[in-house]
Amino acid sequence: MSILVTGGAGFIGTNFILHWLAGGGERVINLDKLTYAANASNLSGLGPDKYRLIRGDIGDRALVSEILNKEKPRAIINFAAESHVDRSIHNPGEFIQTNVVGFFNLLESLRAYLALLNEESKLAFRFLHVSTDEVYGSLSPEAPPFTELSPYAPNSPYSASKAASDHLVRAYRHTYGLPVITTNCSNNYGPYQFPEKLIPLIIINALKGKLLPVYGDGRQIRDWLHVNDHCRALALVLEQGTLGETYNIGGQAEKSNLEVVETLCDLLDVLKPMNDGKSYRKLVAFVKDRPGHDRRYAINPEKIRRELGFQPRYNFATGLKETARWYLNNSIWVQQVQSGDYLKWLETQYGEH
Ligand code: NAD
Ligand code: DAU
Repeated sequence: MSILVTGGAGFIGTNFILHWLAGGGERVINLDKLTYAANASNLSGLGPDKYRLIRGDIGDRALVSEILNKEKPRAIINFAAESHVDRSIHNPGEFIQTNVVGFFNLLESLRAYLALLNEESKLAFRFLHVSTDEVYGSLSPEAPPFTELSPYAPNSPYSASKAASDHLVRAYRHTYGLPVITTNCSNNYGPYQFPEKLIPLIIINALKGKLLPVYGDGRQIRDWLHVNDHCRALALVLEQGTLGETYNIGGQAEKSNLEVVETLCDLLDVLKPMNDGKSYRKLVAFVKDRPGHDRRYAINPEKIRRELGFQPRYNFATGLKETARWYLNNSIWVQQVQSGDYLKWLETQYGEH
């Protein structure tokens, strides 16, 4: 038996595969295009009896069909996506290509494969679509957190492309009876996150003595969840979730961006003090805001708690400290991911030379 993970060489996929195998889960086939956001070496220590990496695109129907027919996985967990909001503002086309067109082709490959299975195997199969809270748009300060019934109101090309994929999942359930479940999760943090995202970017810039860019007034709010908690929730949904349902996953840890950045500065002041004895806070720089920047996200996690008994185990303060330590202790990984492509991105987004 095996499971097929798509996009498993990225941040959450890597953590999921490690979590899955550590818990005694079946062999993992990882189909990943290995874009700039991937790091195949994260998982290179896993033996072939546990793990196989196939470089390829979820939109390649011939390849996906071949994998399904040969490996006969009992489930697919889809992480594959273009995932960075700022990149979607610079270059929306790639987001439509992977998150909508590629994703549609993945569903079509699955539909063709399931048509060949007997009723029992079809019923036992699971397609878990990993999506985001950003599909619900932006909350005002007093509004209650997003539930599974909140209306879709995506505001960036990224969130619109993820919303499209969620709608396709729903339609394929309704029309063709595909065995699907969707999860919508809030902001993740933890090991192996590519340093284009806020938390690793701030840690790495601080350690280099570079400015810490805070968009606009820094009062935008995100609801943070440690990636290990997200992975536990996904494994639970895969095994116990109800077909056709969606589950919101979040940490009930709403923080403003400025609060996150200042907390990281304070942590690094202790873990790795600056040479001049001053605080990393002196590096905070308010920069031009993200166009269309969503003001607040927050998840109501009641459904997954009530129906599946899921509770996060990390609290944000200890999770963030552990994450800062991970980046400090993994300087080789940090160096590796800062390739030419990463430097080009810093120049595009922050005007660095
Ligand atoms: P990531 O950018 O770190 O990783 C994405 C992975 O997908 C990379 O390994 C990349 O090579 C691969 N990929 C991209 N296009 C592909 C294609 N066409 N075919 C095959 N592989 C492809 O992303 P992440 O942060 O790990 O997010 C994973 C998923 O979880 C995404 O779907 C994202 O929308 C969702 N999500 C992320 C967060 C978060 O905070 N990071 C929160 C909620 C949901
Ligand atoms: O909510 C879930 C989403 O969280 C996922 O679907 C996305 O894939 C993931 O990238 C993340 O999106 P955000 O846009 O919230 O994450 P990001 O780390 O890019 O930014 C977090 C907040 O910090 C956001 O309000 C923008 C702000 N920010 C970000 C960067 C990179 C800054 O102020 N400065 C920065 O340099």
